[in-house]
Amino acid sequence: MITVLGSIGFDLTTISDRLPLPGETLVGTGFVSGPGGKGANQALAAKRAGAETRMVGAVGKDAFAPQALELLKSGGVDLSKVEEHDAPTGIALIFVGGTGENMIVISQGANATVTPQQASAAPLASGGHLLLQLEIPIEAVAAGIMQAQGVGAVSILNTAPFNPSAANLMMDADITVANETEFDLACEALGLEGADRKARMQAFVNRSGRTIIVTLGGDGAVAATPNGFISVPALKIKPIDTVGAGDTFCGYFGAALDSGLDLETAMRRASAAGSLACLKPGAQPAIPSKAEVDAALA
Ligand code: RIB
Repeated sequence: MITVLGSIGFDLTTISDRLPLPGETLVGTGFVSGPGGKGANQALAAKRAGAETRMVGAVGKDAFAPQALELLKSGGVDLSKVEEHDAPTGIALIFVGGTGENMIVISQGANATVTPQQASAAPLASGGHLLLQLEIPIEAVAAGIMQAQGVGAVSILNTAPFNPSAANLMMDADITVANETEFDLACEALGLEGADRKARMQAFVNRSGRTIIVTLGGDGAVAATPNGFISVPALKIKPIDTVGAGDTFCGYFGAALDSGLDLETAMRRASAAGSLACLKPGAQPAIPSKAEVDAALA
């Protein structure tokens, strides 16, 4: 069973030939809206990968709430631990530019109301997997990791969006997934040194005894573990929208581990799924099915 403790939101996305400069108004070429939030995206990805999945988080009581939960609900994610609060549902304003790159500003809304108590009450079981990100309060993320440790569940921390105050949590989570920028910022926050990224990843493993995975966009992903390094490729694709690709990686990765696959095979599946998620606009609508990922890997 995968439990995702994290954010739920609704994304409003404009598409333009390039990203705007500060103070500039651009005429866009398109608009899409749909469910998002890093936690919810990862939950849907885990479910589409075939894992039994539960979401722990919060939405508001506004018109965005049912829209934010729509695909999780129709996809069969257990929403019994999603609370309703008076704060507005989380919203993300997203710009997607010509080559698929993006800029995102989130308004946390109800995601900021997730408490350590709610996190500690997440029904985790020994051998299960807990996925966490940093769009809810850090105290709740810390409580979730402690709860996982207490029952013998595997915690997987995705350091997005990066927050230096949360860097220490990487020492406690069983596995951390960071993109290149997040990992570089984490090294600064944790004082990890080394001539290159590989050396700094090794320094992280030496200090924490944990596994770190750094996603490299079109170059795949690399893991440093107490038993050595693992590299996997990405698919050769032309991205049109990279929003949600990292979440798809995390959801597929957690689901693969939960089904008993080894770390390298799980990373390979996650990397392929993350690549496929770049081929359609939007976050959740772009998450590939298990059959699509199987076909791409075959
Ligand atoms: O990782 C992509 C997500 O980040 C978007 O769906 C948006 O909601 C923001 O939280």
